[in-house]
Amino acid sequence: MPAELSPTDMAKSVAANRAADHVMNGMKVGLGTGSTAAWLVRRLGERVRDEGLRIRGVPTSTRTAAQAREEGIDVITLDEAGWLDLTIDGADEFDSDLTLIKGGGGAHLQEKIVARASDRMIVIADAAKKVATLGAYPLPVEVIPFGMNSTRKLIEAALAGMDVDGRETSLRMTEGAPFVTDEGNHIIDLHLERIGDAAKLAAALNQIPGVVENGLFIDMCDLVIVGHADGAVDLHQVKVDLHQVKQDSA
Ligand code: A5P
Repeated sequence: MPAELSPTDMAKSVAANRAADHVMNGMKVGLGTGSTAAWLVRRLGERVRDEGLRIRGVPTSTRTAAQAREEGIDVITLDEAGWLDLTIDGADEFDSDLTLIKGGGGAHLQEKIVARASDRMIVIADAAKKVATLGAYPLPVEVIPFGMNSTRKLIEAALAGMDVDGRETSLRMTEGAPFVTDEGNHIIDLHLERIGDAAKLAAALNQIPGVVENGLFIDMCDLVIVGHADGAVDLHQVKVDLHQVKQDSA
């Protein structure tokens, strides 16, 4: 590992290395996208080369696919894999229910499809990603280019009835043109400041024609590994209501 890493990069690499320990021989693994996931792909590449780890990886973006191939990881498509043992990915925010905002890198559509087709999802993050309430980070919504302005108006109309603090929207731009996702779509970022009911919001957004997928990941993440610059990690899991479990099994 390079000696002069920033504290944030150190924290991301620590979380990624710990998550890589969950990957076993023979697994089919979803490979996330973003700066934290890039540390994971790097570590898995090391394990493939140094330990002879045998895995097949399903990348969630063209960026991750290129990196995984460079690292010597056997890359397959989700349809070739059929189903995955584990997906490991970053996040832009997570709360105590392990509900996530993802899509800061514009890859949340493939990330959600891959995570949903996995037995388990582990999120890797630095401590800045943990929030009491979701929504300070803009919520990405992937929309198809056709009728994009009408879709945006419908999104804004839907936000009027939602428990949020902000209702501004913006079309994500890059180098003076709308950002284009791997699927050829665009991203509208929602500046909500606070999301009161993530499930209601996600359902409302995904009902709008022209919306392909929103960046809320609900009931998908099993474990968040938060790394720290000093090498420590915190593990966050969904709290199990033992009283409810007893009632359910009675
Ligand atoms: C990619 O579209 C995103 O969902 C990323 O997983 C998320 O933005 C986290 O990225 P970083 O690890 O770069 O913060």
